[in-house]
Amino acid sequence: MREILVTSALPYANGYIHLGHLVEYIQTDIWVRAMKAQGHQVTYVCADDAHGTAIMLKAEANGVTPEEQIASVKASHEADFSKFLINFDNYHSTHSEENKEFSELIYRRLSSAGHISTKDVEQLFDPEKQLFLADRFVKGTCPECDSPDQYGDNCEVCGTTYNATELKNPQSTLSGSTPVLKTSKHYFFNLPEFEQFLKDWTRSDNRLQTSVANKLQEWFEAGLATWDISRDAPYFGFQIPDTPSDEPDKYFYVWLDAPVGYMASFKNLCDKRAGTEQALDFDRYWAQENEHKTEVYHFIGKDIVYFHALFWPAMLAGSEYRTPTGVFAHGFLMVNGEKMSKSRGTFIKAETYAEHLHPEYLRYYFASKLSDKVEDINLDLEDFMQKVNSDLVGKVVNIASRSAGFLVKKYDGMLSEVCAEPELLEDITKTGDEIAAAYENREFSRAMRLIMQCADKANEYIDEKKPWSLAKQEGTEQEVQDVCSVAINIFRQLMVYLAPVLPELTNNAKAFLNIDSLDFASRNQWLLGHKINKFKPLMQRIEEKDIEAMVEDSKASLAQVDAPAPTAITNSKPAAKNAAPEANADAEQTDYIGIDDFAKVEMKVAHVLACNHVEGADKLLQFTLDVGEDKPRNVFSGIRKFYEPEQLVNKKVVCVTNLAPRKMKFGISEGMVLSTGEPKTGLTVVTLPDTCVVGDVLA
Ligand code: MSP
Ligand code: ZN
Repeated sequence: MREILVTSALPYANGYIHLGHLVEYIQTDIWVRAMKAQGHQVTYVCADDAHGTAIMLKAEANGVTPEEQIASVKASHEADFSKFLINFDNYHSTHSEENKEFSELIYRRLSSAGHISTKDVEQLFDPEKQLFLADRFVKGTCPECDSPDQYGDNCEVCGTTYNATELKNPQSTLSGSTPVLKTSKHYFFNLPEFEQFLKDWTRSDNRLQTSVANKLQEWFEAGLATWDISRDAPYFGFQIPDTPSDEPDKYFYVWLDAPVGYMASFKNLCDKRAGTEQALDFDRYWAQENEHKTEVYHFIGKDIVYFHALFWPAMLAGSEYRTPTGVFAHGFLMVNGEKMSKSRGTFIKAETYAEHLHPEYLRYYFASKLSDKVEDINLDLEDFMQKVNSDLVGKVVNIASRSAGFLVKKYDGMLSEVCAEPELLEDITKTGDEIAAAYENREFSRAMRLIMQCADKANEYIDEKKPWSLAKQEGTEQEVQDVCSVAINIFRQLMVYLAPVLPELTNNAKAFLNIDSLDFASRNQWLLGHKINKFKPLMQRIEEKDIEAMVEDSKASLAQVDAPAPTAITNSKPAAKNAAPEANADAEQTDYIGIDDFAKVEMKVAHVLACNHVEGADKLLQFTLDVGEDKPRNVFSGIRKFYEPEQLVNKKVVCVTNLAPRKMKFGISEGMVLSTGEPKTGLTVVTLPDTCVVGDVLA
């Protein structure tokens, strides 16, 4: 029996759980259940990630204390997770006593081993709010292309990355005031001192997926930088201990104590279980010398690899704790082939989904898509409905519903004493070994394929034997019972195989089958001369209208609250600028787009009805464009330096007509006028021959 500790990343306590998050929690939960079903002792812990500026500000905006804020979010997270049948052994918070103790202890050990240094850092400071501004909280004009309204880390228009201090006309998004430069002392973790250790660690014992190890290789080549682990007050987090008493208080940056939250949650569980049969020994899992006795795995999204495969093992090694046995990264969730979108209603909260559809549908669909690769997975809503209906309802549940009736009605629920088709059942029992291995290797899509192949075999068998017509003939009583018993035995095997994915359905099936275990090994004991109970429908089909209602509801619920985009918030990325490349979710996307993506851009012939200067904007011209619709469109373009408005009136130009409307200081821009060249050296508006017809699409 292996002793395994498993974690999922700790969700931020400033937002709700959405379907993207669920990719991770469902993946981990399936793995944990599958490993438990194979007889291992597995402990699954998680917690809310409760610290940081974003949470502090959120609490302020809601008029509550940070403690109240995180308590209510934690309750809602736990409610969501339980709806999706995520079976944590413990769910804690990083704002806890245990976490404070471990964070301080780890920090002190790192510090006394000489792995901490200090440096003065110059940063933008909001004089009104009296706080240092993280990049997300500064907006200004891009130093490269002069686009207004850009965030402090990179320009959404030209893509340049820069330091917030380089922005022109910077403004604090918190107070609107002009930030000032201010210097303060920061504490750094000397990551470069762990370079050799990390290089060895990365390449040994199959700890990381190949693509992750390759990414790390790039980071090593780019050079590791020290990591800024402190934040100035006001900050919601733990104070850094042992700082000079005549200096202002410093706090641990949220990402310092967040992974320590894994240990803290586990410790909390050890304390809860002390003295019981399920007692757990903390040191057995975390002491350095026990590294090879027990296993520790972290499931994470690809955006936070940097923290888990570099900072975290270095922190652990530097403070004399064991390091993880493996870090398993997964890709991001797409819906209908695109990033989740609020306006399309595909940014779906876990809660909204659960109001309309059964969580097990999603668990199965994710399982059928997930592999051991760091690939994005696509939830295509049409495919989702078809797959669930055809696989689960049409193939799997159907096996039981086709055979149980005869057995219960005619044979008092008794299965035959002897298996009439031992080879078939043997075959399906043996496939279980492959399925178990696929689960263990996180090749869930392979496991689901194998399971459906077994279901196909059962259905083919029933179709061939036709118990319903046999039942009408004379002298076939034994055969009908035999055929249905084989079918029920296969169904039972399938329930064992699907139990990690569909805990509720299989649990109901367990009652119907009158068996007491769904562990993997239990399937070797076939059901012979065994009595089953009355069959009740185990799963309903997904109806198109339920999906539509969920999408509509998602649009509505997101229109009401301006929800935080959990992956975009400030503290989700490494602090050190210019340092190592970021573990950014978008970083791995390819540079190419497919023809489908290209086809999404709608460009139309537009007639310039009017063109004007914009008061107070020295870069912009304002267009009134006829694009062949009922109403003309208002579009701003940053070309004032290169044109007098009269030059463009009456011209035919190209307008991108399906660009999301953009709210600017001077009004809403409802499209984009194409031009060539560069904002610095000169732009030429693309004009079309007069023969072009207004409203025609360019392709
Ligand atoms: N608080 C940090 C993790 C700290 S772990 C010590 C964090 N929180 S999060 O709420 O933004 O994300 C939690 C997990 O969900 C992360 O592993 C993240 O990658 C994953 N996902 C968040 N959005 C996702 C998708 N859209 N798709 C797939 N996974 C996503 O990061
Ligand atoms: Zn720019």
